[in-house]
Amino acid sequence: MSVHKEIRKVTTHVLSEMKHMGEKISMLTAYDFSMAKLVDQAGVDVILVGDSASNVMAGHETTLPITLDHMIYHGKSVVKAVTRALVVVDLPFGTYQGNSKEALTSAIRIMKETHADAVKLEGGKEVIESVNRILSAGIPVMGHLGLMPQSIHKYGTYTVRAKDDEEAKKLISDAKLLEEAGCFGIVLEKIPAELGTKVSELLKIPIIGIGAGGGVDGQVLVLHDMLGITQEFSPRFLRRYHNLSAEIKGAVGAYVEDVKSKDFPNEKEQY
Ligand code: KIV
Repeated sequence: MSVHKEIRKVTTHVLSEMKHMGEKISMLTAYDFSMAKLVDQAGVDVILVGDSASNVMAGHETTLPITLDHMIYHGKSVVKAVTRALVVVDLPFGTYQGNSKEALTSAIRIMKETHADAVKLEGGKEVIESVNRILSAGIPVMGHLGLMPQSIHKYGTYTVRAKDDEEAKKLISDAKLLEEAGCFGIVLEKIPAELGTKVSELLKIPIIGIGAGGGVDGQVLVLHDMLGITQEFSPRFLRRYHNLSAEIKGAVGAYVEDVKSKDFPNEKEQY
């Protein structure tokens, strides 16, 4: 059964229907107009303007330095390109954890200035007041549990999360809390596959995994990782669909060669 082919605009309701009908949800990141256009045209269901832009676009080591203004810039660029996919923009570190009023103000800025469809934030019980306040303004919210890159300094490593019982129980209880609050979906990052499957079975809302196994309701990857543009990052969960870094370097190298040898431009390439 496929919901996805006939859909002209993916909504949170469509995602819920996909889960209901057993159709897996595809999600990828994008941060700019040109890439977002290609990703949307290729039929991905959800485009995440992730705060991974901090790493991928700006070259920071972590997602912490990216600001709300930066996320809004990326969000605007992506929304302009997209006609079909649901666009979700990450609330960056420091814009929703302090208090729920600030969280609402940040989410409203994202919705007003980017015209995105939803926001995503990291955490469970600790941020539930912020989640409630954003939802009460009619803004769809996606949760993010498991490995939460914005808390990297608390954990110190990017290793698999919720391997022990206590952490797994907390993750399940946070996931239930987010569902009860009204989140339309949750991203689960880098957790045991068995736990991913369990959360997906326990909850009615779609669970999208990144390193959470095949038993969840959909998958998300960072676009630049799956295209092979980034080279340094090679976790087990990453499937590379292309080696674009080699192709790009090859094309640029050929261009440099042609300029140096005066082969470019030729007679047909000038006025
Ligand atoms: O920022 C991001 O790219 C993300 C994905 C890893 C889910 O949150």
